[in-house]
Amino acid sequence: MLAHMSQWLTLSRAAHLLGISRIALQKRIREGELPSFDGMVTVEDVQRTWPELNLDESGSFEKTRAIREDAFARRLRERVLPTQEALAQRLFAQGQELAELQRTLTRYHALFESLQARLSAEPAPAAGELMRLLDEGLAQALAAPAPAGDMVALDAMLRVMSAHVTVKPSGREFFVEGPETLLKAALRAGLTPNYGCGNGNCGLCKARLVSGEARAVSSSEYRFSAAEKAQNHVLMCACTALSSDLVLEVLEAGAPEDIPEQRVVAKVRRVDVLSDEVLRLHLQTPRSNRLRFLAGQRVTLGVGADLAGGSDLHAEYPVASCPCDDRNLMFHLCRTDRRAGLCLPGIPLRGPASADFWQCVSDGRVKAGDEVSVSGPWGRFVLQTGSVRPLVFIAIDEGFAPVNSLIEHAIAVDAAESISLYWASSRPGGQYLPNQCRAWDEALDEFSYLPLAVDELPAVLAANAALPASDVYLAGAAERVEPLAAALLAAGVPPQQLHVEGL
Ligand code: FES
Repeated sequence: MLAHMSQWLTLSRAAHLLGISRIALQKRIREGELPSFDGMVTVEDVQRTWPELNLDESGSFEKTRAIREDAFARRLRERVLPTQEALAQRLFAQGQELAELQRTLTRYHALFESLQARLSAEPAPAAGELMRLLDEGLAQALAAPAPAGDMVALDAMLRVMSAHVTVKPSGREFFVEGPETLLKAALRAGLTPNYGCGNGNCGLCKARLVSGEARAVSSSEYRFSAAEKAQNHVLMCACTALSSDLVLEVLEAGAPEDIPEQRVVAKVRRVDVLSDEVLRLHLQTPRSNRLRFLAGQRVTLGVGADLAGGSDLHAEYPVASCPCDDRNLMFHLCRTDRRAGLCLPGIPLRGPASADFWQCVSDGRVKAGDEVSVSGPWGRFVLQTGSVRPLVFIAIDEGFAPVNSLIEHAIAVDAAESISLYWASSRPGGQYLPNQCRAWDEALDEFSYLPLAVDELPAVLAANAALPASDVYLAGAAERVEPLAAALLAAGVPPQQLHVEGL
């Protein structure tokens, strides 16, 4: 019965509370250090497994405190509420009181049950014996607080500051921080909900609120039908969570064919020179017309005749950024890009315009503020949902662009046991974003990064005995990835676990 009185946490919530990844938590469960039942863990077990945890230093408390002040209506905050920091402190203190009450109640409950069991036993205990049991039980009930008290308090506070959403039918979960919309929070967590305009007009983001409460944070033009209203539909792009736990029925894209073809006119935000060979083009879409795509997919970029020097210019590029930031699209443009003649199964032929495109951006004809059309998305080089196998990414030169998008998405989704990145270059210093890769390596326990020369790649991969049990994503120039893909298959990587993008 005591177990029933414990506070149970989902793995996502426990990881959120501890400020660690869900993968790290699952690892401790697999290793038998943290008991779990039906995807849940108890606060007491979590606290026992991380006894050294200092909640003030775990980051969760700080993150919560840092949630923007606009979590509450401005008028109410200015006139009635104290500062958010004071509120957070008081919530924490109240949570501690609540935890103490829960603990005492749990112990009284256990005492009551043990006395009940003794009284119904044969022979019935003498009054003196009962008194002794009662005294001992009361002493235990009033003993010093259990160490889990602080965690219960912090959880109570986080439940106020960030709402937990469970998505049906996929069962995926995400957290809504402060006043952000359900759509923004879902995208940040790597989910792929159906949506369109992003500002309350098209209705594509509607979801059914199965339980919990949501509230509109912006006005919307879309009008629900009577049936939709009766079924409790909300617009994810216009609503935030009101209650601390919600269940939403959401239409999610599971495969590339679930994403419609779109055309968006974006503006150049900036151009970064990453190396002598590579430029990074940063485009921003209008707020009301974003690009919906899956991590790893490509689009066609186009500039008009005035910028391209005579006739319209179009070239196809993988999006190098994560769909979780759907307004800001990054592309890695390479001077030596050669696109003509590529033909892999399922990948369309590309135009030879990429070198011209690089030239336009490089010589400043395409610059900040200019318009670039974005059409797509194309391609099936996307993360396989539902797999929990280790992820191995192999990027050759600019093959890093789609891999970058996939890695950012994989980190957001937090589903893989481990992530390995091999970035092979055909020229010295060809790893044009080394700091970013090192930062992943240093910040994430389950991430490893190995920069190497293209010639070293076959031997290094041959030495990796874990590849056949992994999902392997390989991207680079077609003439380099094709023989490597054949070698990986020959080394035992199952075809359904090998995903290849030839550029
Ligand atoms: S995305 Fe268009 S209404 Fe929400």
